[in-house]
Amino acid sequence: MKAQILKALKENREQYISGEELSNHLGVSRTAVWKYIMALREDGYDIESSSRKGYRLVSSPEILSSEEIQAELSTRFFGKQIVYFDTVTSTNTIAKEIAAEGCQDGTVVIADQQTAGKGRLGRNWDSPPHTGIWMSIVLRPDIIPAQAPFITILAALAVARSLEQVTQVSPGIKWPNDIVLDKRKVCGILTEMSAEIERVNYIVVGIGINVNTDIEDFPADLQKTAASVKMITGQAVDRKSLVVKILENFEEVYTGAKDMNVRSSLMDEYRKYSLTLGSKVKAVYQTQEIEGTAVEITDNGELIIETEDGVRQTIFSGEVSVRGIYGYV
Ligand code: BTN
Repeated sequence: MKAQILKALKENREQYISGEELSNHLGVSRTAVWKYIMALREDGYDIESSSRKGYRLVSSPEILSSEEIQAELSTRFFGKQIVYFDTVTSTNTIAKEIAAEGCQDGTVVIADQQTAGKGRLGRNWDSPPHTGIWMSIVLRPDIIPAQAPFITILAALAVARSLEQVTQVSPGIKWPNDIVLDKRKVCGILTEMSAEIERVNYIVVGIGINVNTDIEDFPADLQKTAASVKMITGQAVDRKSLVVKILENFEEVYTGAKDMNVRSSLMDEYRKYSLTLGSKVKAVYQTQEIEGTAVEITDNGELIIETEDGVRQTIFSGEVSVRGIYGYV
């Protein structure tokens, strides 16, 4: 209800909206409306009130709360349930916990700061407050575990497309799912799952984006390979608009990709963003090292590498270094 009141206030930004109108529109008492207004003020919203005219939203805090996101979100099931934290260990950890307890498909866990953010391959993910997007989405796809890496490919596509739409930058994707600006990593995706041999119980897609981080705020070892969107565009980016766009695009591609024709055109879009395709690469796949040229990304998201002796190897997931990116020469 708080989210709906906020939405109504936002839609009437320039004008007052009376308590009576809000109560009729939302089907709650005027006292309840007043209580929600008080709660919104406690969250940092500046809401003017006048006994004659009603309420008017003056300003909103810069937070990624469920109310803020849902007031702008037009998805069918992504983000219908959003759990927000000022500080959390890792949104992926919380998402896995609530997924195991049965939370609904599309639930989002988002935090302003993570104290134990997790990266791929057991690495840490630096997640300072107020500057990034640290969020995890719980999905319950009807797929077998081997198909799970494809969901990560779709997430990367959704993030790249959203960055382009919201900030006009030209992102690239380093297969499978690093988003790169100006040869430096701005976003990483960590997908975790719970599955049986024949069935996925749930997947958690954790997306971390350095949005407004300043170079000096990156740990020293990352300053050469990582960047934020703000460092590239020179302008701070509204994190909420980006979160909303990502959830909308991710839902669209995730739902669309079930149809093989749509999947094929989504993968064409993915290939356009790809920095890996056509490049010299070195992959570590199941303890084996493969060096060669990335010649193809299939409609199922697998990467095909052709080695110097002409042998083609298909890899489904793993760590791939691309010559010229992140200092690989
Ligand atoms: C990578 O190593 O490239 C993946 C980084 C993923 C970071 C995100 S931030 C939100 C979610 N919660 C985590 O602990 N990790 C992911």
